[in-house]
Amino acid sequence: MKAVEIKKGIYWVGAIDYNLRSFHGYTTPRGTTYNAYLVIDEKTTLIDTVKAPFKDELLKRVSSVVNPKEIDYLIANHVEMDHSGSASAVVEQAGDIEVICTAKGEDFLHAHYPGSTEWNIQTVGSEDTLNIGKRNLSFIPAPMLHWPDTMFTYSASDRVLFSNDGFGQHIATPRRFCDEAGDWNVFGEAQKYYANILMPYSRMAAKKLDELKGVPVDVVCPSHGVIFREKGDINRIVSLYKSWAAGESKEKAVIVYDTMYNSTEKMARAIDDGLRSMGVDTRIFNLRVSDLSDIMSEVLDAAAVIVGSSTLNNGPMPSIGGFLTYLKGLRPRGKIGFAFGSYGWGGGAVKAINQELEATGFELPVEGFQTRFVPGRDALSQSFKRGVQLANQIKRR
Ligand SMILES: Cc1cc2nc3c(=O)[nH]c(=O)nc-3n(C[C@H](O)[C@H](O)[C@H](O)COP(=O)(O)O)c2cc1C
Repeated sequence: MKAVEIKKGIYWVGAIDYNLRSFHGYTTPRGTTYNAYLVIDEKTTLIDTVKAPFKDELLKRVSSVVNPKEIDYLIANHVEMDHSGSASAVVEQAGDIEVICTAKGEDFLHAHYPGSTEWNIQTVGSEDTLNIGKRNLSFIPAPMLHWPDTMFTYSASDRVLFSNDGFGQHIATPRRFCDEAGDWNVFGEAQKYYANILMPYSRMAAKKLDELKGVPVDVVCPSHGVIFREKGDINRIVSLYKSWAAGESKEKAVIVYDTMYNSTEKMARAIDDGLRSMGVDTRIFNLRVSDLSDIMSEVLDAAAVIVGSSTLNNGPMPSIGGFLTYLKGLRPRGKIGFAFGSYGWGGGAVKAINQELEATGFELPVEGFQTRFVPGRDALSQSFKRGVQLANQIKRR
């Protein structure tokens, strides 16, 4: 296990987790990497570590360049355990080492690792730099991107940005660079990452992107997935981030539903036909067989989220509750919502979904639609019409 040089004196020394399929519920069909970076100068600096079970991989890669005892600084850009999980091992090996993080980072380190109260911790902010020889490393606090402790580290002389979870993607590949990643769907995975991790903090992301506008960057080193070093790739990921952070949407609707006897599904298909008849692109997800994190990836750049459920015990199906709760937490902005579903007697699902969509900040320009038991020709034609009305609303924006 070797380090990979990404620029003279800067090495990737992370770990590849080929087997990971769920990251706190976010599905990772391609696994992930935990990226750590080693900077060799008069002082040896490690930027971030890896998840605890991968500490030996980290130390082996470091050892292929330098004895871990010689690490002078550990910069902890973000304390979440996938990046700080091997910090104790690094501190133990190095002995005389200074840990650099934000003030929140120090607080979070102590709340994770009781032994860290004994560490030599130096907190930094945007005014601070760390001279490690030929290089001055500077720090860009990025609170809520995606934790309060998060910061980026920047090496001006190398024009390298260590952006931690910013620009990350969950992809486990032995290839380290985006331009080598071939058909690994880097930008699709970056979209899924943004949707599930950063979407709630889009305002902060937009501000940070603005702040970074004038900063010359040749290499972007995120803490997951591949590294961006080609100008075209950097421009592409930055422009995608700008568009996601601004809440820009396509003429696209996401239809999400659950159903017991397929009545609601029939309505979903008719609504879909209506939308498509107007040229609106659609994605349909039956929650029984679909993954929430994949759905959110599609929600990110959709203009409308259309939610259907049959009524079960006066309310929506439980899966709909889970979906709406997750959706609310991700705080999508500027989108149209619509509720529909089949019921038997008193109903209740459509009303409850509407309330939740409204509370999440959705605009509801088309009245929710419900039909009793199995939708006949008239109910399906009504559903189709709702699709057309929604398409008109989407196109009007
Ligand atoms: C266990 C169960 C509970 C139900 N509870 C209600 C209810 O509280 N109110 C209601 O209007 N319909 C209720 N229904 C009727 C369904 O909403 C109705 O059968 C509907 O057509 C099912 O649509 P689906 O095939 O899309 O699931 C219930 C049905 C089942 C099987």
